[in-house]
Amino acid sequence: MGGGKNRRQRGPTHLSPAVRLDRKTLWTLNAVPKTSVYGETLRPFSGQEHRRWDPKRSKLGAAMLRTSGDPADLLPESGQTVLYLGAGHGTSVSHLHDHLCGEANRFGGRLVTVDLAPRCLRDLTAMAAHRPGLVPVLGDARKHAAWGVLLPRRVPWLFQDVAQAGQVEIFIAACRRFLAPGGQGLLSLKAASERWTGDGEAALFARVETALNESGLAVEEVIDLTGYEDHHRLFVVRSGGANRA
Ligand SMILES: C[S@@+](CC[C@H](N)C(=O)[O-])C[C@H]1O[C@@H](n2cnc3c(N)ncnc32)[C@H](O)[C@@H]1O
Repeated sequence: MGGGKNRRQRGPTHLSPAVRLDRKTLWTLNAVPKTSVYGETLRPFSGQEHRRWDPKRSKLGAAMLRTSGDPADLLPESGQTVLYLGAGHGTSVSHLHDHLCGEANRFGGRLVTVDLAPRCLRDLTAMAAHRPGLVPVLGDARKHAAWGVLLPRRVPWLFQDVAQAGQVEIFIAACRRFLAPGGQGLLSLKAASERWTGDGEAALFARVETALNESGLAVEEVIDLTGYEDHHRLFVVRSGGANRA
C-alpha cells in the first residue's frame, strides 16, 4: 500500500492539509468554525480550530487508527470527487468534508453522499448548507439509475457503510459502476447484518474477502475495528487497472 499520493503538506502529524494525528487522536481542520457537528471537542492547533474525530462514532476514523499502513492512505486526495454510500447523520461525512473540501470548499472537492433514510437526509441537507461540496442524496445504494447522473465520471474513492443484508453484493456492484481503474474502495462490514450461517464471524469475514477478490477487487487490507465498533471489519480494496486513481 501507499505511494503515488501527492500531498500538499505532510509532517509527522499531518496526514493532509486538514487532517492531523496527535498522539493517537485524529483531528480535522473545521470547515465551519465554531460549529461542532455531533458534540465533538473543538480545539485550536496553531491558531486554527480543529474537530476531534471520534473513532467510536466513525468507522473510517477507527480504521485510520487501526490500519497497519499509513492512515493517510485510507483517505482520498483533498479536492477529489468521491462517493459515500450509507451516510447516516453525517458524522464521518463531516470529517471527510473537512479534508476533501475545507472551508468554503477551498480545496474544490465533491462528496456525494447517499442514504435512504429521510431523517438522515434532513441532517445532511442542513449540514450541506454550510459545507459547499457536500451533495446529499436521498436514495438507495442499490438503485444507481436514480442518482448515478450526479457522478458523470468514475471516482477514485468509494466508501460504503450501509449495515444491511447483501452489503457485499451492493459494494461490488457500486465499485463496478462507479470506481475508477486503480481506485480505492472501503467496505465497512457489520457481521450481524449478514445472513447468519452459524460458522462464526471469522468464517463470514473470510468468505467476504474471497467474494471481493473473486469479483476482481483486490483486497489490500482487512481492518478489525473491535474495541471501536465490535463485530465490524473494514475491507480495503483496489479496483483492477494499471494506474492508481
Ligand atoms: C451505520 S449507518 C451509517 C453511519 C455513517 N457511515 C457514519 O459513519 O457516520 C448506516 C446507514 O446506511 C443507511 N442505509 C441502509 N441501507 C441503505 C441503502 N440500501 N442505501 C442507502 N443507504 C442505506 C441507513 O439509513 C443508515 O443511515
